[in-house]
Order: sequence, then C-alpha cells, then structure tokens
Amino acid sequence: MFETRLGRRDFLGRLAATGGALAAAPALAETSMPKPGPTMSWPEFRKLFPLRADRIHMACMVMTSHPEPVTRAIEMHRAALQADPVRTIDDKRWDLEKKVSRTAAHYLNVQSDDIALTDSTSMGTSFLYTGMQLKPGDEILTSIHDHFCTEMAIAECAARTGCTVKRIAMFDDSASANEAEMIDRVRRAITPKTRVVGLTWVHSATGVKIPAGRIGAMIQEINKKRGENDRIYYCVDGVHALGIEDFTIPDLNCDFWVAGTHKWLFGPRGTGVMWGRADAWKITRPTIHTWYPDSLHAWIGWIPEQKVGGGWMMTRGGYHSFEHQWALDSAFELHEQLGKRRVQDRIHALNTRLKQGLKQIANVRLFTPMSENLSSGITCFMVGSLPAQTVVDKLFERKIVGSVTPYKASYARLTPGLMNSEAEVDQALDAVRAIAKA
Ligand SMILES: Cc1ncc(COP(=O)(O)O)c(C=O)c1O
Repeated sequence: MFETRLGRRDFLGRLAATGGALAAAPALAETSMPKPGPTMSWPEFRKLFPLRADRIHMACMVMTSHPEPVTRAIEMHRAALQADPVRTIDDKRWDLEKKVSRTAAHYLNVQSDDIALTDSTSMGTSFLYTGMQLKPGDEILTSIHDHFCTEMAIAECAARTGCTVKRIAMFDDSASANEAEMIDRVRRAITPKTRVVGLTWVHSATGVKIPAGRIGAMIQEINKKRGENDRIYYCVDGVHALGIEDFTIPDLNCDFWVAGTHKWLFGPRGTGVMWGRADAWKITRPTIHTWYPDSLHAWIGWIPEQKVGGGWMMTRGGYHSFEHQWALDSAFELHEQLGKRRVQDRIHALNTRLKQGLKQIANVRLFTPMSENLSSGITCFMVGSLPAQTVVDKLFERKIVGSVTPYKASYARLTPGLMNSEAEVDQALDAVRAIAKA
C-alpha cells in the first residue's frame, strides 16, 4: 500500500527517487513550515498559504489557495504519477480513494461506504438531482435562495422526469431571518406530493445559515407517517458550512449532503464529496458510473454481476486529476488537527467583528444576520446605492479581495476565514468607511 502520509524526509526522498519529477522538490525542501495542531497560532497558520502578502484575501470561499500540507500531498502524488502514471493508477487508485473516503467519513462521522468523491459541489448536486428517480405528480420543494448549480440540477430532474418544482422564500428580509419562521415556511410548503426537499445550509447570496438540522428533524417527523414510496428525501448543499461549522452529518437529519472541498476546507481545487444515507441511495442513479473494479470487471464479464451500492456507485469514474483527488485527505486531517470547535470559533469571531463594524458605518446596509446561529463565514452588504461590483472594485483598489454574490439580487461579500486576522478585518472596515464617505 502506497502510504499517503509520509514524513517530510520520506516525501523528499521519494520525490528525489522519481527523477524527472524533481522540479517541485526544491521549493518544498527550502521551507520549514510550522506544524498544524490545536495550539498553532493563527499568524503561524497563515504562513502555510502562499497567498500574496500585499493583498487582503477575503474571497477564498470562492476558491481556496492550497495550504502547505495539501500542496505537499499533491506534489507527492504528482511526482509518482509523472514518474509512472499507469502503474501508479493501477496499483494505488482504489487504496488511495478509499483512504480519502475514510478520512472524510471520520471528519463527518458517517460510514465511508456512503461517501462519493466528486469534483465540486456543482458535480455533486448535479449527480444527485439529475439522477433522481421521480415521476409526474412528484414534487421537489426547494428555495429561492439556492445556488445556480442546485437550481439547474433540479430543473434538469423536472425536465427528465416530469416532476414539478416548488420554490419558496424562507424569509422576506435576510438580515432579520429567524429559525422558527424558516422551519415553519418549509413545513407549510410540504404537501403529500413532496418527495424531495433540497436546501442550502449557508446561503452564498446573503450569508444566512438556515436551521438545517431542525428542518431535517421536522421532515423526519413527517416521514414517520409516510410509507417508503412516498417518503421525503432531504438534501443539503453544505459547501459553506464545511470547514467552518463544528458539525457532523448525523446532526443534520438529512438523507443527502453535498459539498465542494476546495473552499473553506482548503482541499485541492477540483475536489468535492457527497454523502447519502445507506437506504437513500436507491432514489438516485449515477450519471458517470464509477470505475470501481467490481463494476468494470462485471461489465467486461470477468466476474458475475456485482451490486455496487452506496457512495461508491456515485464516485465519478474516468481518468482525471488524481493527484488532487488523492491529496484530499490532507485537508480533512488539517482541520481535525486544528480542531473543529476552534475553527468555528475563529471564523465566527472574525465575521462578527466585521458585521459589528459594518453596522456602525452610516450608509452601509448589512444583509447577513448578526446572530451566529443564523450566519457563518459569509458577510454580505451594500454601500448606499452603489452597485455591488463597484463596491468590490473599490475595495480592490484598496488591496482587499472581496466578491460579488452571483444572484439576481447582488451584494458585496467579504468572507474572512482562517487565513485572515483581526487587523485585516479592521483594514477592510476602514476601506468600506472610506468608500461610504466618498
Ligand atoms: C451555495 C453554493 N453551492 C454551490 C456552489 C458551487 O460550488 P463548487 O465550486 O464546489 O461547484 C457555490 C459556489 O460558490 C455556492 O455558493
């Protein structure tokens, strides 16, 4: 078995042994990076990222920069693939992908057989909804707050199966959203036709965090009175909670959970995971069949037909960027080393600081709730009547990288994370103050 967690010396030794792949080695050999752990300071943690120092990076919720342990893992796998691609894949692929699934499952507190590996949240939601085995007369209940990828995947399911889609507003004013009302609006929208409820835990449109676990509990109660053929499947896009919130999947009372791992978790770009309850996978079918040997070999005829169930059925097949896929366990491990509670406390504290500061600025309107129960790492706001893009452009003139929410109602968005400091939040506030005054 090819060890995926090598010490630095072993790693460099193996890199050297790969000859042609040595190009990556010097840069890594020269660094003496601090070791992530529960007492690592945040300034030390920041040093793990090669982010340019002349900018304040508050948009890494869109796409991560790889921290050093992840870069190291990618380079190790890349070196092996560069030196001997086919034998590396033939010999190691399934051991490494299972190891990634086990590490993700440990972090999420679920069975690794129920984890599927994907390239992104977009791929996971598309696999999930597009493959749903629904029929005319069935309904998918979703909200108007979800991402393009969820909405489009649900639309594809409707076009393919003839099911209907109901989209509800979970609140009228995001800043004053409250848990009871959100749960109630979902409950009231459920009818006997509802077979799927698809929601997003933390909205990238406004930063609202919905009470995903309590909604799941409410749906479980309804399911107690339904038979297997009309039960509701509850699906959650968890991408902007993963790597922030101190949670495990059982807390969410859901049937499916999907996330990209290349945002807050700091996993390799182009990676994601999805999870399904063991008895729920049957509602959906794979779009890109896994190449798991049992499937492939049965198709060839070498072995009798095998049932490849659970998450393995949904792990997308084909040859792809294996060095990124195989290095994903390093990101889950990094977060476990830091400690989930500590990560959550830090990101919430930075966002609370930012929101409290924004609230003080005349002419600034906050769209994200103040409460930590109703928000996470995303802070959305507007300055006077300036378009969101103008605010983000003016922030960038002041070296602050923010983002614009890609929705019909578009806001400026700052998303302080583990690589940011209190001083950077204060600098961002100074910049917003200057923009608001001008
Ligand atoms: C709520 C939400 N879901 C899904 C996505 C798509 O994520 P991915 O890049 O993993 O496909 C985004 C994009 O940032 C998002 O904000």
